Formats: sequence, C-alpha cells, structure tokens
Amino acid sequence: MDNPVPPTFEVEIERLLPGGVGLAHTEGLTLFVSLAAPGDTVRVQIDRLRGKVAFASVVEVIKPSPVRVEPPCPYFGRCGGCDFQQLTYEAQLEAKVEIIRDCFHRIANIADLPEIAIHPSPKQWQYRARANWQFDPQTRQLGYFEAGSHRVCDVEVCEVLAPELQTVLEEMRAHLRDDSFPGAVKNVEVVVGDDGVSLAPAWGRFEAKNVSRRIGDETYHFSADAFFQVNQELLVPLVHEATRNARGAFAIDLYCGVGLFTVPLARRFERVVGVESNPTAARFAQMNLQAAQLKSARVITARVGDWLNGHSLAAESVDFLLLDPPRAGAENSVIKGILARRPRKISYVSCDPATLARDLKKLLAAGYSLDSVAAFDMFPQTHHVETVVHLTAKF
Ligand SMILES: C[S@@+](CC[C@H](N)C(=O)[O-])C[C@H]1O[C@@H](n2cnc3c(N)ncnc32)[C@H](O)[C@@H]1O
Repeated sequence: MDNPVPPTFEVEIERLLPGGVGLAHTEGLTLFVSLAAPGDTVRVQIDRLRGKVAFASVVEVIKPSPVRVEPPCPYFGRCGGCDFQQLTYEAQLEAKVEIIRDCFHRIANIADLPEIAIHPSPKQWQYRARANWQFDPQTRQLGYFEAGSHRVCDVEVCEVLAPELQTVLEEMRAHLRDDSFPGAVKNVEVVVGDDGVSLAPAWGRFEAKNVSRRIGDETYHFSADAFFQVNQELLVPLVHEATRNARGAFAIDLYCGVGLFTVPLARRFERVVGVESNPTAARFAQMNLQAAQLKSARVITARVGDWLNGHSLAAESVDFLLLDPPRAGAENSVIKGILARRPRKISYVSCDPATLARDLKKLLAAGYSLDSVAAFDMFPQTHHVETVVHLTAKF
C-alpha cells in the first residue's frame, strides 16, 4: 500500500526566531519552519508535532519574500551547515539582531535594550578558516552532518570554506577510496593560519603542526587540536570590543583558548590569569604570552568551574573578568564563582544568544548593569552570531 500523503498547509512566515527557524501560525498551531524567509508565503509539511508546536519544512515557495535569494550551494537543505543561504546578506544581519533582541527580552527579561550594532563579515563566503569534517568509513563519504542527523552529507565544494581548506578537502577526497585514507577516523579537524594548514589527525602531507596568525599587533600560534575562531577577518574588531579600554591591576580571562584575549589584556593589566581546560590550547596560550614577552600573565589548565570554586578567594579584587564559554554557556557553578569574586567589570563573549541571555539574567539579578551589546557576524550564511556584552557592578 502507498504511504498516505502528509497534509500540507499554506502559511506566511512572520519573522525568524532563535535557532534560525521561521515563525508561522495555522490551525491553532505554532509552526517553526526551517529554511524560510520572513514574508514568504509557503506550503509546508509538518515533520514533528509537540503539543501545539509543530516543526515544519517548506515543500513549495508560493510567493517568495523580497529578501529571499536562490541558495548557491548544491547541498542547501541537506547539509546541516548553512541554514541562512536563502536570505540576502542584509536580511541575515537583521535576523541576527532580532534573534539577540528576542533572547534578551524573553529569556533575560530585559525591557530596555541598548542599541545593537552588528559588524558584518568582510567575507560572506570562503571565510571559514577552521572546519570539522565528518567521515563515514562505510560509505566513504566526507563532509558535514546532514541537518538534524549523524548521516554524513558528502561535500565536494563548500562555499563558506577558505580556499586553502577547500584545496585540502579536494586532496583528501581524491584519496577517499585509497588505503592511504585514515579509514578508522570519523572526524577531521582542520585550520589554516598565515603559514599553512594544520590537520588532526595528520594525514598525507598534512600534519597536526603549529601554525600562526597575525591579528592586529599580536601573533597567535595554534593547531587543529586547539580552538581558534572560525572567521579570522573579524578578529581585530572582536578583540577590540571584548577588551575595549580595560586596564588596571588584575584581570581574569575564562575559557581563554590559545589566549586571543589574554595576550592583549596582559599588555594592559599588571596581572592576568587565563583558565582553559584543553591542555593543548592552554600550552599555546602560555607560548603566545611568552612569545609576546608578557610575564605578568599565567594560564591555568583547569575546568573553569573547578578553578573558580576550588580555592579560597584571594583578597585581591578583580578589575575585569572576561568569559567566552562554548555554546552551552556558563554552568550555574561558574556564575556563582564569578559572583563570589565580585569583578568590577564583566565582558561576556558568546556564540549563543539564548545561553548568554540565561546567564545574563543571573548576573543582572546579582547587581550588574548592562552597559552595551554588540554583535559580530562571525558565521555568515548560518543563523549563528557572536555577541559581546559589557556589564558593570552596581555594588
Ligand atoms: C568559545 S572558545 C573561546 C576561546 C578563546 N576565548 C578564543 O576566543 O579563541 C571556548 C574555549 O573554552 C574551552 N572550554 C570548554 N569548556 C571548558 C571548561 N569547562 N573550562 C575551561 N575551559 C573550557 C574550550 O577548550 C575552548 O578553548
């Protein structure tokens, strides 16, 4: 017997929500529509229903929004990577500011938001200087996970990859069926610096070697084994906004990676402590400080929560605390540990407005005021956005 045809609905997309989905209403349901544009009239099918909330996908664009464009990538809709390719770049930027506003209103209960300026990416394509490729040893497919699954979408050309990394992808793909290909490997980390490519695990002529990148007046060494920001074109203004004109006696840089913010802070504070759990990244951070001859800073290899809560409070007051956690944000114990140290100023750098808003709510309730919010389009063609907020202690 044939499968019954699922019902479809004609809806208008009202706006884009956190997570990048379009909002629509029909038949008493709230619909979250993937890969939509605000103002589209579309026919959708419901993929998943949870109470009165339905997750839906577009089966036909009936009347395209004025901000809808043809996605250039042949894997659009299948690859889980870029979910904003259907939007003009201007519309992407507007949607990201709206997403931040939505999270700050709804999750952090902030009624009076300061102006949010968004820094566009100088490159809208070919900006990705770091990638994580998936390999399926059974199907010999190499690329990214498909949207909402762990199936590998086989990708020959990735439009957002830096050209140097596209070359590596092609070279690897040419050997997909050779014995030379690391068949047991399911995940490849790759990053490009000013002086070459680092690949982990190493393969062929590509090693997990140290590479470096000049950012403003500083040089950073890193490798594929340590976090480094994806869009290196925006790092000068990002570092500038995150550290601003902060100076003083003592600063803390939590989740410091290879020291992107620790190095500039160490030029302006008498003493700086960076905390990072990945030993490779922490080693690079120490190396980057040494290469810059900054002896006033030290890097501690530890989980932030353990470090904050693991030793007694120093009498020394904290002038400035920067935190840049992964997407999950700061754990409750981290927020508690930060509050116990009573830093005068906090700079929170985040790649997820929802977890940022959750954490912000706790910091505001504990007596901080919100000075500014700035956004950086570190991830064009996706709904992801980097946000930097500054807070001042009112106590
Ligand atoms: C978003 S990255 C930021 C790194 C750095 N600030 C930068 O901009 O390059 C987050 C960093 O936190 C580290 N990390 C993740 N969980 C951690 C934890 N619980 N404690 C300490 N570091 C952690 C990761 O290894 C990563 O280097």
